[in-house]
Amino acid sequence: MGHNGAAITGCGAAFPGRRITNHDLEKMIDTSNKWILDRTGIRERRILEEGLSTVDLSERAARDALEGAGIKPHQLELILVATVTPDYPLPAAACSLQARLGAFRAAAMDLAAGCSGFIYALTVADQFIRTGAYRNALVVGVEILSRIVDWTDRSTCVLFGDGAGAVVIQPVRDKRGLVAFELGADGRGLEYLYIPAGGTARPASAETVRQQLHYVKMNGPEIFKFAVRIVQETMDRLLEKGKLSYADLDYLFLHQANLRIIESIRMKLQLPREKVPVNIDRYGNMSSAAIPVALTEEAASGRLKEGDLLAAVAFGAGLTWGGILMRW
Ligand code: UT7
Repeated sequence: MGHNGAAITGCGAAFPGRRITNHDLEKMIDTSNKWILDRTGIRERRILEEGLSTVDLSERAARDALEGAGIKPHQLELILVATVTPDYPLPAAACSLQARLGAFRAAAMDLAAGCSGFIYALTVADQFIRTGAYRNALVVGVEILSRIVDWTDRSTCVLFGDGAGAVVIQPVRDKRGLVAFELGADGRGLEYLYIPAGGTARPASAETVRQQLHYVKMNGPEIFKFAVRIVQETMDRLLEKGKLSYADLDYLFLHQANLRIIESIRMKLQLPREKVPVNIDRYGNMSSAAIPVALTEEAASGRLKEGDLLAAVAFGAGLTWGGILMRW
């Protein structure tokens, strides 16, 4: 590895003001607060107001992260946005954000790895810092899933929410920073979570719109089984790479897709509740935004402290998975 470690030196989160509770959903579709709460742990989610888009939430989270790190937008050399919901199909959401921030020295690109996107992007940015190529990188996990779910499909629309989390990564000379990473994919599972049309396989047409093929389709039970298995495997490999054990962990940040997934992993790994933060109750599944939001909230509360050892593991569309071990 290179001469520099790379650490998160600032973070931020942003949400739409509009809250949709399970009781609100009861009035819109055939569902119940009890089903949603029992099966997922979600109580409410934030839904972006009309007229706003990905760049609006990204900018707010990014400005907080930049302020935390004590740098200005023009000092950024890399903007990496993990999202499956950019402002436009073309170009990257990172370009919208670069313009909005006025960060004109920065290279800008998106990374699409579904709900694992933030972990993938953080790992990519870390490589640029470690080699000494860049000193100031911004990594954003942002998702406006409310714009790509079918609001008449109760099996998906109750699950997701909108939000953004951002971090600044910089070289550090102390013990902070990334200790190990583990990324993976199994494209054979792509139809478990995908949008059938709008790409080259099925370009957008009046027919694809009529058939509602531009919305997210998901096989929930298959992803559930995959998630529980892959998180444990990823954690075992990470700890082996870092020559650490479960007892060394101060935190395990998990992708927030379902409270039952989180709890079954937490119990398997025998970790106490306070080490495994939960925000799905308040935000639903925010895909790539879930982990940076949780990091920001734990850091802001003062519970996550410098020197703490954390793991963060995500899984999602692709299928993809990714995990990191990091000294905060
Ligand atoms: O972010 C990464 C990707 N996503 C995930 O990780 C999601 C992983 N999967 C899950 O979280 C769960 O599989 C779900 C929450 C999506 C579904 O829970 P489940 O316990 O696997 O339920 P199910 O899909 O097997 O459905 C059970 C029943 C069905 O009724 P029948 O066929 O048993 O009569 C559904 O029609 O629940 C019904 N149902 C609902 N009922 C009320 C499905 N959605 C709803 C709803 N309200 N919103």
